[in-house]
Amino acid sequence: MNQQTKIRSYDIEAIRADFPILTERPYGKPLVYLDNAASAQKPRAVIERMDHVYEHEYANVHRGLHYLANAATDAYEAAREKMRAFLNAGSSDEIIFTRGATEALNLVAASYGLAHIREGDEIVLSVMEHHSNIVPWHFLRERKGAVIKWVDVEEDGSFSLEAFERALTEKTKIVAITHMSNVLGTITPLKEIIRLAHERGIPVLADGSQGAVHCDVDVRDLDVDFYVVTGHKLYGPTGIGALYAKKHWLEQLPPYAGGGEMIETVTRDTVTYGVPPHRFEAGTPPIVEAIGLGAALDYMENIGRAAIHAHEADLGAYAARRLAEMPGLRLFGTAPGKGAVFSFEMKGAHAHDVATVIDRSGVAVRAGTHCAMPLLSRFGVTSTCRASFALYNTREEVDALVAALERAAHLFA
Ligand SMILES: Cc1ncc(COP(=O)(O)O)c(C=O)c1O
Repeated sequence: MNQQTKIRSYDIEAIRADFPILTERPYGKPLVYLDNAASAQKPRAVIERMDHVYEHEYANVHRGLHYLANAATDAYEAAREKMRAFLNAGSSDEIIFTRGATEALNLVAASYGLAHIREGDEIVLSVMEHHSNIVPWHFLRERKGAVIKWVDVEEDGSFSLEAFERALTEKTKIVAITHMSNVLGTITPLKEIIRLAHERGIPVLADGSQGAVHCDVDVRDLDVDFYVVTGHKLYGPTGIGALYAKKHWLEQLPPYAGGGEMIETVTRDTVTYGVPPHRFEAGTPPIVEAIGLGAALDYMENIGRAAIHAHEADLGAYAARRLAEMPGLRLFGTAPGKGAVFSFEMKGAHAHDVATVIDRSGVAVRAGTHCAMPLLSRFGVTSTCRASFALYNTREEVDALVAALERAAHLFA
């Protein structure tokens, strides 16, 4: 099947009907929801699955001997298996449920940092990381005297493998790089990054918060050491994310948080830990959220990830063309093959004002730093507007965005 056929057979109206919120009419206008990089809307399949758990399958997991505890445990562990399949991990023991990408990134930085980072050791980040993949490494800079080395991006937002290679030294202990920029839409050459790092014996963490939504992910093919996702951008609920980590890392890394579920024995003077993944899931996990995320992954698989990506590529190309034609609009990030995320500023207007004005036309975009201050300062700005697309968006919504921006431009002229 070629890409054209896939796009034609993509039943966008049926897909939109799966998302109840899309029929909302803010200010009496059709909702044009273009804030998907911040959080995506949820299909009925996810909402109903979570309701069903609360109504028929709910209890705490892993520790019960009764019917409902077993039902909840089975559903929770089935969600882990769905995430394993989604990332093509070799074993579901390599999937740790977290409360989001932020917790997963903190887990790796804290645990790996405790075991492997000493004063003067270097951590390589790209300048387009989200604060969630910066601040946990700053903790290691502050607490252990580690050094953060930054890989810049090209003017068009492309990731430079040459700059990356130059940043790697004998002191580099880990590379932590986004799969896809939440500001520029740049998709990084992860496989090459990992190959270059591994040639030097350096492990790689990839922040897949955006990448897992819009790109194919195969953690075994990538040979990535750690891969992080967050549920609410994957059409699942908030409060749930996952960390994929190679088994040998999970077996040797110290636990991150302590509490119930992650131990083997506890005495007054000693503690021994359980096996992964439970060793890294202290306390009652976000049970219903994990199951809801499993339903979201099923939903995406039912449409077909290749079909979703083809639809988004078509939308992205159309939006790039329409936005580039607008006078007075500066676009940030035009790297080849980028995802459908568009950051821009309008001449003579503050990003917050633009977002507020177009909101009155029912068009929801985000404005601000997008939790990526080093990147914004690299481009010499303090805020941008960002329109970001999802599997349910349409070309008509791109037109609605452009029309709302044209009206705003008149206002600010
Ligand atoms: C690239 C990237 N990394 C990390 C995060 C943090 O995700 P969460 O807030 O779900 O933990 C985000 C969210 O915007 C993101 O876009």
